[in-house]
Amino acid sequence: MTDLLSVDGGNPLNGTITVRGAKNFVSKAMVASLLGEGPSELRNVPEIRDVKVVSGLLELHGVSVDYDVPAGVLRLDPSNVESAHVADIDAHAGSSRIPILFCGPLLHRLGEAFIPDLGGCRIGDRPINYHLDILRQFGAQVDKREQGIHLTAPNGLRGTKITLPYPSVGATEQLLLTAVRAEGITELSNAAIEPEIMDLINVLQKMGAIISVDTDRVIRIEGVSKLSGYRHTALGDRIEASSWASAALATQGDIFVKGATQPEMTAFLNTFRKVGGEFEVEDDGIRFFHPGGELRSIVLETDVHPGFMTDWQQPLVVALTQAKGLSIVHETVYENRFGFTDALRGMGANIQVYKECLGGRPCRFGQRNFYHSAVISGPTPLAAADIEVPDLRGGFSHLIAALAAKGTSKVRGITLIDRGYERFTEKLEALGAEFSRS
Ligand code: EPU
Repeated sequence: MTDLLSVDGGNPLNGTITVRGAKNFVSKAMVASLLGEGPSELRNVPEIRDVKVVSGLLELHGVSVDYDVPAGVLRLDPSNVESAHVADIDAHAGSSRIPILFCGPLLHRLGEAFIPDLGGCRIGDRPINYHLDILRQFGAQVDKREQGIHLTAPNGLRGTKITLPYPSVGATEQLLLTAVRAEGITELSNAAIEPEIMDLINVLQKMGAIISVDTDRVIRIEGVSKLSGYRHTALGDRIEASSWASAALATQGDIFVKGATQPEMTAFLNTFRKVGGEFEVEDDGIRFFHPGGELRSIVLETDVHPGFMTDWQQPLVVALTQAKGLSIVHETVYENRFGFTDALRGMGANIQVYKECLGGRPCRFGQRNFYHSAVISGPTPLAAADIEVPDLRGGFSHLIAALAAKGTSKVRGITLIDRGYERFTEKLEALGAEFSRS
């Protein structure tokens, strides 16, 4: 199968699709299995490339991985965890940011860890300074080498008190995965509290960890000397659900997203309604639809949970090109997440990006050289085009634009979308999209 999708757009997407477990939770729960003395079972696991990458890394470290794809059940047995060869780990360099989360569990299990250069989407610098600072504070020694980072913990890992400069999702997960088996108590202030992190806490608690989440983003962990395996059903993917919701809006369609859940999507649903989309929450999912008439422009700011998440922004921007008036979107999580708008402009969208913090509170990217605010003026018809997928969420947005635009678009680089959207071409077929993958 090649990397090109030819899309005949201009038709509404109508029908039902299912989303399974959240990419940004499943990969972390897989890493958590390394901490258990016995096997773990994770359910509702989607068939996406990130799961393959993490499975490969776990296998390299001696974990046996058995994945029943149709059932979505992943069995992970860490009984024989061992150090992997640097060259083998390095073969995974560039494919994901998850390896950095192996540090704490491997230090506990083996006393050392090697982490290759990290991949992930090109949506900003994406540094790992918070992660390394946290590991150092637990007592790890960090040695940067040409191919990656080597870590050791000659005196074990001890609980500590840390305040994050920013509520980073990954750094909070790093701390949780390290603190649960560190000696003594750890306290994290300014923690991220995304639903995916709460579900990771559920998993760790099932394994025997003692973790409390206080008000004002403070998480406290009492370290324990051993953890067991877990059995857990992953929470649904609220990013994928919102992407299909935006696709329904941009194509004037009607999509029932089985597996979408309301509590994790409150901020998205409010915004969806303000733009003029409608939704109906059912027990097994949410129906998102364009009720006809004009969409309305909005002012929007991305934020950490419980705010409007950054990953919801790009697909929604495509729908905003069809809204009447001026919409303003202020991106405050990543400094460089509007690159995907170049292609939309090429398709006829009227979008300008600015370095200023527009339409909201000043953020840490203001007064610097980051184009992190966008003004979208609509509605503008979208014309078919040749597009190259830039990153996961930007890529899905391009796909939505191609589906909304009249004529035949060519979307290149679509295997990037397989990283986080399970069998998306089958879902497009189920929704009546006209396309061919050649
Ligand atoms: N940051 C630092 N230093 C660090 C870590 C983060 O400065 O050591 C900064 C980042 O540069 C960014 C901000 O903190 O500006 C927030 O980054 P965060 O650590 O929260 O993001 P992440 O853990 O790397 C996860 C998801 C992202 C999602 C963000 C925010 C995974 C694998 N990735 O990234 O998902 O956008 O949280 O919710 O969980 C995606 O799914 O497409 C995706 C990019």
